[in-house]
Amino acid sequence: MPDITLIIKDREGKTHRVLAPTDMAMNLMEIVKSYELADEGTIGICGGMAMCASCQCYIISKHNLPQMEDEEEAMLSDALNVKHNSRLGCQISITEDLEGLTFELAPEEN
Ligand code: FES
Repeated sequence: MPDITLIIKDREGKTHRVLAPTDMAMNLMEIVKSYELADEGTIGICGGMAMCASCQCYIISKHNLPQMEDEEEAMLSDALNVKHNSRLGCQISITEDLEGLTFELAPEEN
């Protein structure tokens, strides 16, 4: 399966175009970590369990994303800096449908 391109705005406002594999069961948070687009220890703190909101991002493009599960919705209702387009990056798997997905990392929570 081919890689897809993601466009990611980091917490300093810099935009990165990165390739993400669709066949490694990765999610958005793991891609951000693997390209070191956020400081170590500031993203993916709960390991992708929808329990920390450190992977919150704002979805900018108009892609059809998987619906939120209850855990994600509950976590975002308690998180800071939440916007109408907030999602938890760890809950969105990399699939071919996400080619060109554009998102911005939410600020650090503390
Ligand atoms: Fe903790 Fe996504 S990594 S909620």
